[in-house]
Amino acid sequence: MNIPFNIPFISGNEVTYINEVIRENVFSSPGKFAKKCEKELAKITGCDEIRLTTSCTSALELAALAIDIKVGDEVILPSFTFVSSANAFALRGAKLVFIDINPKTMCLDEMLLEKALTKNTKAVVLVHYAGLTENIEKVVEFCKINNIFLIEDAAQSIDSYYNNKHLGTFGDLGCFSFHDTKNVHCGEGGAILVNNKSLLKKVEIILEKGTNRAEFLAGKIENYTWKSFGSSYGLSEINSAFLYAQLQELKTVTKKRKELYELYQKTLQPLKQKGLIDFPETTNNHNAHIFFIKVESKKVRNDLINYLKKSGISAYFHYSPLHLSEMGKQFDFINSGNDFSKLESERMIRLPLYYQLGIEQVELVVEGIIQFYN
Ligand SMILES: Cc1ncc(COP(=O)(O)O)c(C=O)c1O
Repeated sequence: MNIPFNIPFISGNEVTYINEVIRENVFSSPGKFAKKCEKELAKITGCDEIRLTTSCTSALELAALAIDIKVGDEVILPSFTFVSSANAFALRGAKLVFIDINPKTMCLDEMLLEKALTKNTKAVVLVHYAGLTENIEKVVEFCKINNIFLIEDAAQSIDSYYNNKHLGTFGDLGCFSFHDTKNVHCGEGGAILVNNKSLLKKVEIILEKGTNRAEFLAGKIENYTWKSFGSSYGLSEINSAFLYAQLQELKTVTKKRKELYELYQKTLQPLKQKGLIDFPETTNNHNAHIFFIKVESKKVRNDLINYLKKSGISAYFHYSPLHLSEMGKQFDFINSGNDFSKLESERMIRLPLYYQLGIEQVELVVEGIIQFYN
């Protein structure tokens, strides 16, 4: 038996669209397929100003530049996240302030925001983990009252909603990933949603290597010039063509992933009722990007992962809390007495979940877990 942890999705139309790019001989950003993707993403998210980027990492870096993060500015973010949520702001010299997560949602505990606030706080990074975020209104309100930016790290969240509103559309800027580990992808890619329209011009300049080329392309000026900091964050047409083929099948992908997610929930219910494992029961309309279980301890987690591996089933865990990392130790970590970022991440196991996974394979994974407990 061999059940990999992930198999990247392929829609079948990628090569057709890439051939179109080759025939038309326009490869750089932003081209026809980038525009098609942005339109498709606007339909899905409801945000009408979207730009494709080379990754979510570059979308986050772009966001840090757009809100003018400088040395001495403080940025509040959860410790339980991917390094890019932190690096993007650390690169600009920000002082990071890690806060703990709510063990139920694995997302930042909004009750700790007040404790982390200082006169230097410039932004909050809200990382949407596995579509489980709750109380987004409270985070939005906190940022509004205190006049600070809200950046959403929605790397995992394409086709995920909270109260019928797409994740990534609550803050000033929303950052998405189309890495091949995501539900739909283009190898490596991303997008930035500009919800706060006062940042749009800045975003366009930064995206165009610090120039006003966007205005030039729109026919508004005769030539373009260096205006501010910027970089090469735009997605090439080959990747955009690939991504367009994927976005067209997004709803089919979400539907299948949800069926598998619900099958895991249903078939693992007896172990949950016995108190041996735990897993989320959210009412959020999410994209089933991640299905994880929590076991009793780090030791049980490692034993179970090894047990499944012997049967050819790959299961993994992530993230190692950033406040405990070599780089992250220099920054503060605000919590309420417990370290849920450490405790909860140590007992988490992510199970295989992807479009090509069959019902029988989910049943085999579940059988493996049941056998382990027997
Ligand atoms: C929460 C989060 N933010 C950012 C990223 C970085 O995304 P990318 O690989 O597109 O740069 C990831 C990657 O998985 C992530 O999980």
